[in-house]
Order: sequence, then C-alpha cells, then structure tokens
Amino acid sequence: MSNDLYDFVVVANRLPVDFTVADDGSISWTRSPGGLVTALDPVMQGAEGAWVGWPGAADLDHEPFDVDGVRLVPVRLSDGEIELYYEGFSNDTLWPLYHDVIQTPAYHRTWWDAYRKVNRRFAEKAAEQAAPGAIVWVHDYQLQLVPAILRELRPDLRIGFFNHIPFPALEIFAQLPWRSQVVHGLLGADLIGFQRTSDAANFVRSVRRFTDLTTRGEVITVPEDGGERRHVRAAAFPISIDSRQFDRLARSPEVAARALEIRKEIGNPQVMLLGVDRLDYTKGILHRIKAFGELLADGRLTVPNVTLVQVASPSRENVGAYQQLREDVELLVGRINGEFGHLGNAPIRYLHHSYPTEEMAALYLAADVMLVTALRDGMNLVAKEYVAARSDERGVLVLSEFTGAADELVGSVLVNPHDIDGMKDRIVSAVEMDARDQRKRMRRLRRRVLEDDVEKWSQAFLAVLSAVPAHKVSA
Ligand code: G6P
Repeated sequence: MSNDLYDFVVVANRLPVDFTVADDGSISWTRSPGGLVTALDPVMQGAEGAWVGWPGAADLDHEPFDVDGVRLVPVRLSDGEIELYYEGFSNDTLWPLYHDVIQTPAYHRTWWDAYRKVNRRFAEKAAEQAAPGAIVWVHDYQLQLVPAILRELRPDLRIGFFNHIPFPALEIFAQLPWRSQVVHGLLGADLIGFQRTSDAANFVRSVRRFTDLTTRGEVITVPEDGGERRHVRAAAFPISIDSRQFDRLARSPEVAARALEIRKEIGNPQVMLLGVDRLDYTKGILHRIKAFGELLADGRLTVPNVTLVQVASPSRENVGAYQQLREDVELLVGRINGEFGHLGNAPIRYLHHSYPTEEMAALYLAADVMLVTALRDGMNLVAKEYVAARSDERGVLVLSEFTGAADELVGSVLVNPHDIDGMKDRIVSAVEMDARDQRKRMRRLRRRVLEDDVEKWSQAFLAVLSAVPAHKVSA
C-alpha cells in the first residue's frame, strides 16, 4: 500500500458489509449475507487491500472507510439503477440465463444500458484505488464488463475475474442479445476463473463463436494496439469455504449444546432432515419439499418420527420470480403441514430468515440428513459447510448432480432433483444409512473439504494471476 493506493483490490457487486448512515452522519454496519462474502472474508482479513462494492441500499454516497484493516470503497447506486442493473439485468436476465433458463430470462435494452453504465462506475472506482501494477480481482456476473473497461483505463494492472455461477452452454448463452459485448468485457482480464472445467470450456466455445480471436486449449490470444498480443487464460478454480473455522465452531461445547436444544425444540424426532438455501428458484426447494410430502403420503416417512427443517433466507424480494417462488413454497409447506401435522407437531419447520454462523453450525450438527437439491448451482457452499461441521463423522449429504460441488464431493448421495421418484428413494436410503456407512462416506468428504479450503482457492487463483508478466505500458 502506498499513498492510499492499494496493491490488491477486490471489486464485487456487494461490499462485505451493509451500512446505514444515521441523521448525525455516523455509520453503523452489519455483515451482509451471501456466498461471495463468506468466501472472500478470510482472504481480505489476511491482506491489506481495498474492496470496491455497493453498500446494499439506494443512494448511499459515502467516502471510503476502513473496517478491520480493509479499505471499503462504496459505489453509489440510485433507486432506478438498483431496479435496472441489479434486479433487472443481473438478476432477471443473467441469473436465469446462466442457470440454464430454469426461469425465462427477460431481455430489455434499458436494463443493458444501466448494466453498462454501472459497470463503468465500478471500474472507475477500482482504477482510482489501484497502485501502479496492482492486482485487481473482479467478481461475478454483475460485473462482467469491468475487466475490459478497467484495462482501458489502467493498462498497467493485472486483472483477474471469477465467475461464481455457472457459465452456460453456447446454445443457451447465444440467446443474449449482448453476448459478444459480454465476452469482450471478460476478455479484459488476464485470468478468468470458473467453478468447473465445463464452465471454462463453455466460455472458450463462446469466445470462438462470437469473436474472431484465436484460442488454444484454455488460452485466448487478444491482439493489442501496437502489435502486442495478450494471453488470457480461462480455467477452473472450484471455490470452497473456511473449513477449519466451521470445523472448530462445530466442535465448541456451545454449538454442540445448541444442536441438542434444536432437536428438543422440534420435538426430538428420530430423524431431522435439513435444507438451507437462499430462497431462489435454482435451489430446487419445491422439488425437495414435494418429494418429502410424497414420502409422508406413501407412509415411507412418518410424523412425528421425521421432521424437515427448511431454512430459506430472504433474497431479491423485488424480483417477480422470487415473489412467485415464495408463494409457491409457502403454499406447499402449508398444505403438507396441514395434511400431515398434528397439534404441536408440524412435519416441516419453515424458516424465512437468515441466521448467524454459530446457529448454522448447530443446525448442521443437529441434522441427520442434509438435502442439497439445486437444479443448477455454480458450487453450493452449504454442502461443504455441512461436511466441515461434522467432525463426529455422522450425517448424510444428499447432493444434486447439478451443483459444482458434485464434481468434488465423492461420498455424498447424488440425486437428480427432477426425478422425484429417484430422489425419494435416495432420501429414504440416506435416512436408513447405518452408522458405519455414514462414517466411511463422511471421512472421505471431510478429507476433501478440509484440504481444499477457501484460502487454497484464493491462493491458487492469485498465484496464477501474479505470475502474469507485468504489462508494458507505453509512455
Ligand atoms: C450468489 C451470487 C453472489 C451474490 C449472492 C447473494 O451467491 O453468486 O454474487 O452476492 O448470491 O445474492 P444477492 O443478490 O443478495 O447479492
């Protein structure tokens, strides 16, 4: 760090805090939820860096400030920009498109215009903070144009981009009216990271189709002004969690005691099933609850022996598809509870809240079976958190084939959430699995999750990015 310029700058849609400014101008802040924050927090704690992001509310204009040794640089978004750039283009165009069009993406030119404008603002803020030759790490689908704008403003920087969500197949990505602009936006980076090798391969195919650039394996060659050529690498870096922190937390006597209390609070069922998700249509919550309801109807699971605890944290509540999903989930939960519940005993405990990490660790520890049934998910960190919390080597992870985590988590019970009958059978086999089999699988899962933690992920990405030769900048 020199003269208030930073050698390491993170650019993400959200700051790692939400803050509000009181009438007297004082700031109060709280940690904001989301996989990205969880993933990057430990990295930022260790490095003196700057983080450029949106504080999570409209029209908040604030000078950069320091929290826990990290410089936070707020990017102001107006009400209209939140609607068009965040709720619109990011979460009603790109999010459904990149998750295999589970919902129909909406394409609006006004949303695209706002996306371009806001991406430029993020890039300008990052350019102001970065020291000469600094490393700038841009995150996720909301900011895909930032790498190219940043390179234009600051050709001296080494720029990395990481896509936390899937990158779709060429045939799906092709729908996007602005597909070549997005590809060119990303190619401003030196290194483009994806969760899975198939995501990286999908991107390279789109480069070949929508640009006339040369590609060789995972390397794309981009001609620069003055006859220079730049090599951009697109590769997989599967993200993880702070496994040790979760492991430690779940071993604490307080968390263990809380886990027992949770079991008691839900009526000490023989078996507790658990689902933990943002309330998002990609997570397969309806498929999971439907399968559970049918198992009750078939009598293969019975009340009060079995309880499903479903944590569904509120998310993107102004977007229509999310409002619809909430209605559908709550209707289904109500039906099943009405039909199979008794006074003082509901088969589904549905919680539309988010909880602190300690409570999550206690929930994981309390659950016999963890249900991760996403229809499409870049990685799914909940699956890894469950494994990290189970130092007792008990518990079964039921995991959708359509998550990035399924590539790594050998030892889980894999399911296709679209196949309700198949999922029902897998859930029953998870409920009935004996302790010996549970231990064997959990050991294998834990070796993987404890070895490949988030620190290793960021180090691997940053090692490749740092090895990019410094860019020559003509005077
Ligand atoms: C996913 C995305 C993140 C996002 C998070 C929460 O994990 O990959 O970029 O921050 O969801 O969503 P939100 O829209 O609330 O930021």
